[in-house]
This record gives sequence, C-alpha cells and structure tokens, in this order.
Amino acid sequence: MTTLLKNGYLVDSMNNREGVFDVLIKDRFVSAVAANMDAPADRTVDCSGLTVIPGICDMHVHLRDPGQTHKEDFVTAGEAAVAGGVTAVMCMANTVPAVDSPERVRDIVKRAETSKVKIYPCAAVTVGQGGSELCDFEALKQAGAVAVSDDGKPVENARLMMEAMIRARLAGLKIISHCEDTDISGDGIMNEGAVSAKLGVNGISRTSENIMTMREICLANDLKAHIHIAHVSTKEAIKYINMAVNLGIMVTCETAPHYFTLTDEELLKKDADYRMNPPLREFDDVLEITKALCNDMFDCIVSDHAPHAEREKADFKTAPFGVTGLETLLPVTLTRLYHTGKLPVSKIVRMMCVNPRRILGIGGGGIEAGSAADIAVFDLNENWTVEPGKLRSKSKNTCFKGMRLKGRVKYTLVNGEVVYEDK
Ligand code: DOR
Ligand code: ZN
Repeated sequence: MTTLLKNGYLVDSMNNREGVFDVLIKDRFVSAVAANMDAPADRTVDCSGLTVIPGICDMHVHLRDPGQTHKEDFVTAGEAAVAGGVTAVMCMANTVPAVDSPERVRDIVKRAETSKVKIYPCAAVTVGQGGSELCDFEALKQAGAVAVSDDGKPVENARLMMEAMIRARLAGLKIISHCEDTDISGDGIMNEGAVSAKLGVNGISRTSENIMTMREICLANDLKAHIHIAHVSTKEAIKYINMAVNLGIMVTCETAPHYFTLTDEELLKKDADYRMNPPLREFDDVLEITKALCNDMFDCIVSDHAPHAEREKADFKTAPFGVTGLETLLPVTLTRLYHTGKLPVSKIVRMMCVNPRRILGIGGGGIEAGSAADIAVFDLNENWTVEPGKLRSKSKNTCFKGMRLKGRVKYTLVNGEVVYEDK
C-alpha cells in the first residue's frame, strides 16, 4: 500500500526541513520526501494549504486502564489521540491497580495493541504508588516501561527519591516527578490566592510545587542524575528549572496548554472541569510560563489528559482533579502560541514531537525516508469551537469547553495507515 501526501507544508524540526513537499509512504514507512514527486500511489491525499508534521508524542496521559475504564480505555483514548494528531502516548502508572510490576507493564503493552496509537507505559516508582518501597526498575524496563513516575502523587520521602534516581539511572529509565509537597497542599482544591479566598475554599499554595521542584533539582545536582519535572504551573518553578539548566544540572520539564491559557479566575464558575493538580494559577504565572515557552525553557508540551466521568466531576469541591486534553493539545497551543505570533510551528513541533521521544528514548519524531510513517496533517487556519459532546474521549471534562480555537487536525497516520480523517 502506498500513500502520497501531496503539496503539504512540511515542518520537520528534527531534520531541519520546512517547506512544501510531497511525502511518499510505502506500507509502514516513509519512502521519500521531495518536492513535486511524480509517484504513483494507491491513495493520494491533497495536503495543499495544510501543514504536515510528525505525529505528536504526548508523554503525559492518564489512560485509566486497568481499573477505571468507565473513564477511558485504550480504544477511546486512541480515538481521542488521533483526533488530536497524537500518534504516541506515554500512559501514567496511577491506574487501579498501579503499574508497579513487570507483569502489569507487559499486560499494558499487550492490551494496548487494540489502540490506534502507540502506547508506551510509564511504571510506578514505588510499590502501589505507596511511597515506601521502590519497584524493581530493571524488571520494569525489561518488560517495556520507558520511564517511572508516581504521577498523581509525589514521592514524599527525599531519601527514597534519592535512591530511586540512582536506580533509574542504572536501569536506563527516565524518572518523572509530580512536584507537590502534600503537607503544604493539604486538602486544597484550587490555587491558593485571592480567588480561593473569595470562594472560601482551601487552596493549594504555589510553595507546594516550588519547594518540591527545588528538592528534585538538588537531588539531580548532587547525584549527577536526570529528572523530568511534570506539569510546571508556577512562575517560580520554571525560573528554578531554568537556573538549574544553566548550571548544567540534568533537568528537563514540561507544561500543559491550560497553564499558559487559563487562570484561577475560571474557578469562579464553581465548575470542577477547571480543577486539576497542579491547579490553574494566576495571571503572572500564565505570562511567565508563556514567556518561558518563547525562550526555549520548556522541553515539552503535554496534555496531562486526565479523564473523569461526568458524575465524578459533578460536585465542585469533592470532584477528583484532572482535565481531558488529547484532542485540544495542538489546537490550543496553535491558538495561544502560534496565532499570537509567539512561537513558530517548528518550535511547537520540537516540543510536541521531537523532545518527548528524545527524552523517553523511543525514536522517531521526524519525517524522512525510512522513518515510521506516524504523521499529523492539520489546517492552521480552521476555526472551531470546543463542544465536549463532540470530543472522542469517553470523558468530557475539558477546561476548554466553549473556547474558539484556530487550528484543526485533518488527517492522522500511524504506521502509514490513515487512522483519522476529519470529515
Ligand atoms: O489533575 C490531575 N489528575 N493531576 C494528577 O496529578 C493526576 C491526574 C489524574 O490521574 O486524574
Ligand atoms: Zn501529576
């Protein structure tokens, strides 16, 4: 089977190639990239006026399988992913039970075959994500884990995190930290500030995130080990990380679209669909996170896709943290960063397609002869409105509901097959 993507505007940041090109795909792989190719193909997709990029790798996704498939499963997550131009996801370990053994990693690798996208498991740092006993990282790696994280929770005990970072390095696994000091965040349900005071609810202080980010930087420095900081939401945390990077400390980091788009003012609606952890912060944070994105301080933009059922999100105060994001990741980023003139598409591609794969060591992220044909094609200028009911995820808890976006995925290919087409 051959497919020709004709006349698209290719943005391949990994190979520093940008311009109007044809991409010829033979079976699972890209066989040629050239201008005005005159190759016969079983299917020709007219990509004139569209942008062609490597499929996105979203390295922060909660897939909910096993244990909570009423929220999401491999199939629905795959449908949501491809509708967002995402062809690879790393799934977090906070399932029920947690992914803390080689058997559970293998189970995910096997069952994830039913999904339209490539799924890479992140295993837990501690047994049952209980924070007291480390998992067997070597065995997890052998079973197919690409990283370890207790995401959803921090590893509270610094001594244990030290040990974990050493063992992760020995096993050749990346370790990802959800930075939160739970003694400080306590039972807070949103950012601590003027808005939480006005609503009379307990807040999550920015100090909770900042202090843990600093701890991880100290550990990475002292151990000469690498740490990846998940979902950075405060203006201080990104400054600390940038300072660390400038000192040569091995820290990488990510943020998510809601942190450079929305503030805690949204919570005045008393709608739990705006509650996630870390929480939406303040205007200055949005400003500084955006600036940091422009100044190449972030390695990755991820969705932190965290689906929850409607009934679970019904009560503003007691609902679980989390928002869906696979389908809005690219469109929100294009709307907020590209269409405002802040970032070129090439940098967005770097943060969504190239860097996550480099950090996880899973290969891919470019479009050249020989590479797996995992590709997203989008219309930079198509306007649409986020209607939760029309999204493909099993859960509808998006904090972008009603938002007008500019940029829409038209085709997604995984292993050379058109697995999504916007009709
Ligand atoms: O908002 C969040 N939701 N933050 C997390 O760390 C966990 C996630 C979830 O699993 O729902
Ligand atoms: Zn987290």
